[in-house]
Amino acid sequence: MSELNLILFGPPGAGKGTQADRLRNDFRLPFISTGDMLRGNVKEGTELGQEAQKYMDAGELVPDELIVKMAAERLNESDALDGFILDGFPRTIEQAKALDKQLTEVGRRVTAAILVDVPDQEVVRRISGRRLCVKSGHNYHVDFDPPKREGVCDQDGSRLIQRDDDKDEVVRNRLKVYHDQTEPLIDYFDDQGLMRRIDGTRSPAEVHDHIRAVIATLRMEDDV
Ligand code: AP5
Repeated sequence: MSELNLILFGPPGAGKGTQADRLRNDFRLPFISTGDMLRGNVKEGTELGQEAQKYMDAGELVPDELIVKMAAERLNESDALDGFILDGFPRTIEQAKALDKQLTEVGRRVTAAILVDVPDQEVVRRISGRRLCVKSGHNYHVDFDPPKREGVCDQDGSRLIQRDDDKDEVVRNRLKVYHDQTEPLIDYFDDQGLMRRIDGTRSPAEVHDHIRAVIATLRMEDDV
């Protein structure tokens, strides 16, 4: 059986991070989120983090050359050599081409791009209620996926906070950037026969089941 090199994408707040928490327990594949990597760099105050923060705070994309280099280095780490699930990368056609080039050079390819599709109105509802564990980043929603104790992470008891880029005006810009710069990837992946669409408006458990079914089918297709 060959490796699974998967891309998970969709609008901000579609539930990619929520599914990441569930999927990393199902498949022995590293889950690589460029958003998490950037937030880690911001927290540590690295040069990349300082450069990226101004774009993130404004809801803009971090320039391609910075992201491509960061993602390429991460994909060269040993745990990603037999497959991966990418979350939030690629996010532009340029990034997608850079990823294709990197994989092709070593005889690899993207297996599928899974779109978690959610309309703008739902994105705004989800992001306004999102809460994150200050320590480990576990994801909650005050109404749709609440913690057992308000403001406290179920998994490690840490405080829950809101993300800096979850303010209304920044969310509106993130959505605009998604439509302008990331949505063209749907046609890009479609043309290569890689697109798989998931209805992201369903419950987290249903979305999880659907993604697992898609991945199981990909594995079966690969086996025959
Ligand atoms: P990133 O961290 O990738 O953010 P994003 O794509 O905007 O996505 P989010 O993390 O906001 O949402 P999500 O889909 O993970 O949703 P979640 O599961 O939390 O990027 C942040 C920034 O970094 C970018 O703006 C950019 O500046 C920069 N960046 C990152 N990658 C880059 C790249 N490749 N190029 C350039 N710049 C880059 O869910 C949201 C809420 O909804 C939660 O509260 C959750 O509990 C709830 N929820 C989830 N699923 C459901 C459901 N099915 N039903 C009801 N509620 C649900």
